[in-house]
Amino acid sequence: MATTAPASAPEALIATDIEAYLDAHAAKSFLRFITCGSVDDGKSSLIGRLLYESQMLFEDQLATLEADSKKVGTRGGEIDFALLLDGLQAEREQGITIDVAYRFFSTERRKFIVADTPGHEQYTRNMVTGASTADLAVILIDARKGVLVQTRRHSYLVSLLGIRHIVVAVNKMDLVEYSRETFERIEAEYRAFARNIGLDDIVCIPLSAVVGDNVVERSEHTPWYTGPTLMEHLDTVEVTDEAQAKPFRMPVQWVNRPNLDFRGFSGTVSEGVVRTGDRVRILPSGRESRVARIVTYNGDLEAAVAEQSVTLTLTDEVDVSRGDIIVTAAALPEVADQFEATVVWMSEEPMLRGRNYLMKIGTRTVTATIAPIKHKVNVNTMEHLAANRLDLNEIGMCELELDRPIVFEPYETNRDLGGFVLIDRMTNNTVGAGLLRFALRRSQNVHWQALDINKQAQAALKGQRPAVIWLTGLSGSGKSTIANLLQKRLHSLGRHTYLLDGDNIRHGLNKDLGFTAEARVENIRRIAEVAKLMVDAGLVVITAFISPYRSERRMARDLLEAGEFIEVFVDTPLAVAEARDPKGLYAKARAGEIANFTGIDAPYETPEAAELVIDTTVVSAEEAAEAILVHLRDGGFLAG
Ligand code: ADX
Repeated sequence: MATTAPASAPEALIATDIEAYLDAHAAKSFLRFITCGSVDDGKSSLIGRLLYESQMLFEDQLATLEADSKKVGTRGGEIDFALLLDGLQAEREQGITIDVAYRFFSTERRKFIVADTPGHEQYTRNMVTGASTADLAVILIDARKGVLVQTRRHSYLVSLLGIRHIVVAVNKMDLVEYSRETFERIEAEYRAFARNIGLDDIVCIPLSAVVGDNVVERSEHTPWYTGPTLMEHLDTVEVTDEAQAKPFRMPVQWVNRPNLDFRGFSGTVSEGVVRTGDRVRILPSGRESRVARIVTYNGDLEAAVAEQSVTLTLTDEVDVSRGDIIVTAAALPEVADQFEATVVWMSEEPMLRGRNYLMKIGTRTVTATIAPIKHKVNVNTMEHLAANRLDLNEIGMCELELDRPIVFEPYETNRDLGGFVLIDRMTNNTVGAGLLRFALRRSQNVHWQALDINKQAQAALKGQRPAVIWLTGLSGSGKSTIANLLQKRLHSLGRHTYLLDGDNIRHGLNKDLGFTAEARVENIRRIAEVAKLMVDAGLVVITAFISPYRSERRMARDLLEAGEFIEVFVDTPLAVAEARDPKGLYAKARAGEIANFTGIDAPYETPEAAELVIDTTVVSAEEAAEAILVHLRDGGFLAG
């Protein structure tokens, strides 16, 4: 086993001249990289060995590792590097939220940060997180298995994420007798694929993380291989840092106001250089000012560059808040609310066209609706396939509509202003990640028209308070019957109403929609928009749709003003609805004649916070309508 790692030399310097050591250390260049591969490919062993051979392991970790290796005994008493990572992983699992662990090591030339991404189901998500700051990716291939679908997927992601330097680590060479032919076959296949996806700086290295061949030490088992060892390559590969050549951008993480005399804006410079005296603009407000001071913990600076964390003070009293972006006034980024984007889906629950998600981009959070999905990509063939949804691990191109404009740059230009994650509104889980490609111009010339006859005027004329009474429940639960009775009661009380009913709307406005998940999302999206228009017209709107998803009911609620949306859960157990079977549809569904039938082979998500729950097993339709009426009266909707 190799023990003379390149990092051992500094020890002498530390002992004799600590200052010189620290200076040399500070001047070292940085390389950030990510390793891609699953647990079985030997990722843990490889990172473990790099850390071990660069002697950056702490003594106690080392002692545990040696003890564990003897105990577990998978490597015949030798050190099993995979155990090291497993140990660190256990540490990490205690802090459940940390998905990516960054490990540090260094050689005489360079400091390294490797993003270690756990390799289970959530792998893609972790990988995207880790890759978003990396300069280089090490793609592990098991020599016995060759290029797999996941090798292609990881490579494609790496290329999308803008990483241009690739090391293909053909691992476990010891298990294929260090066969040159095997290595060259894998290399040829990989290069052919990589060319297709725009990756060209590729170095392929035959190695064995477990035995140590070509990781740090050159292996005598591969005399035919003349390229660098992994460590040699990592140590010398040229990665140009273009971030400083770009225009200055800094998202404001927080406003630092310790006392009345000091007001600074703190954040990490995302790109470019800022100097005192520079003219800057605050976005989105558009106000301009000049940089007065660049403050850090170690005193003021004249200039700050990409990746530095600083606090800026300005010469004018301008309003700046968290989430704003400070940019050079000389080159402004764009502002838009509709985009074409690439999305990588990371959740078991599919991404559906028409559904909306929270979008976190830089320090801002907005709402994004998935507009048409242009295509998804088959990562094996790079073919474009038509799609209305993305399933777990799929990658697609889609349009996004935001609820408000954001300052952005294409991901290619700026990873901070162009990279985003999508968060499920109900569960708060990160479900997707993506890159903004470009803004769509179509909304640019469409403005809001201010109308004099507004909702208040419409409602006043009708002498009523507009609202949406949203009935949700299984097919056959009694929604339409209750809605109809309720409308008659309201009408007789002199209210102006309109009833939107599932079956009826599906004969007209929504006759192009079926019952797949994405069609139902679109069905409810349109109904919600129509209901909103009717509320603007001053009407009391009753809707009767299964509306099986919490997400879309929430979307409908969010379209309206607080208090205007009244969700009524028509609660009928499946068995009861099925026994009633007014249209004979349950029987057909059970016989397999109707697919995706709610309650049978399609889900119904029970409301969690409906304004009203009506148990139809104990309440008649008339009583149900009466209960809603009482609720409206109590809420002040029937006054006047
Ligand atoms: S929703 O799920 O998109 O909200 P909607 O309320 O518009 O559904 O339509 C439901 C009605 O369509 C049902 O009451 C039933 O009459 C009919 N229908 C036909 N096929 C299905 C199906 N696969 N699942 C549920 N309802 C269906």
